[in-house]
Amino acid sequence: MGHKIGVIGGDGIGPEVIREGLKVIAAAGIDLDVFEYDLGGARYLKDQTILPDSVLEEWKDLDALYLGAVGTPEVPPGVIERGLLLKMRFELDLYINLRPFVVASHDDFFGHDFTVIRENTEGTYAGEGGFLRKGTKHEIATQGSVNTRHGVERCIRFAFELADSRERKHLTLVHKTNVLTFSGDLWERAFKSVAHEFPNVETEYNHVDAACIYMVQDPQRYDVIVTDNLFGDILTDLGGAVSGGIGLACSANLNPERTSPSMFEPVHGSAPDIVGTGQANPTAAILSGALMLNFLKETEAAQKIELACANPETQTGKTTEIGDAIANLV
Ligand code: IPM
Ligand code: MN
Repeated sequence: MGHKIGVIGGDGIGPEVIREGLKVIAAAGIDLDVFEYDLGGARYLKDQTILPDSVLEEWKDLDALYLGAVGTPEVPPGVIERGLLLKMRFELDLYINLRPFVVASHDDFFGHDFTVIRENTEGTYAGEGGFLRKGTKHEIATQGSVNTRHGVERCIRFAFELADSRERKHLTLVHKTNVLTFSGDLWERAFKSVAHEFPNVETEYNHVDAACIYMVQDPQRYDVIVTDNLFGDILTDLGGAVSGGIGLACSANLNPERTSPSMFEPVHGSAPDIVGTGQANPTAAILSGALMLNFLKETEAAQKIELACANPETQTGKTTEIGDAIANLV
């Protein structure tokens, strides 16, 4: 019996890159029982389905979810993002968004790797807020940031555990404590209190704006970064940019206690402008597959895939050619 995986190819280049990911996982000798789900913008346009409760219920029996990309220009912003992606994160309690990077932007730091741990269920993403007097010239829109001690602390503890397991044992908290004096204060206090449990981990604090400069000019200062949902969203696109582009950036949405299936997806979107052209680099999806295998404790296969992706010879050609080249090396 293989691992039970729910696969959502989704929209645009999503199905193209996921096909390559599944090809590589099979080539690495891992047996998956694949359950395909037709979800995303195209499905919504067809019959208004976004993410039915019955599907969420079915997913509880799965070992993991593997997603390509969702979103189409014809659907208004927020419908699929909130209704599908964020609903998955919230309902499955995928409170860790783990995004690893290998620097490729500069010879001096080439190959340096660091990982961003982004809180994935709270902050401005929680959806607190609303309109008053909408449509009038005095209209008001508020968008609150939700930070619970429980949510912040469990994310920070996960980041400390990760840092403690790595060679360098260094963790940076990124926030904006000089302006966000309520949420920043909570994050800082939680960070300091959890730090006592990890005496071997060296800690640092950076404001998020400064972190953007350091990530570009001196990424070697980072080993593990922990940050809130929105800062993490922005910082990990920058991380992608300094790591050879968003075509290589992979991510894991984790439920570390394994009370529901974790979800693995490339950081990039559905890129409708290049769909069907073969220009999509499947490496981010393939590396997300490797993160999934790691989480499923198939560490040997995961490592082989990571090595093959890092080999520059696999990184030329069209979508299927890159997939084939990686599959041939694992
Ligand atoms: C990401 C994406 C999502 C996010 C969007 C599509 C909702 O940008 O995974 O980084 O903002 O989290
Ligand atoms: Mn993003």
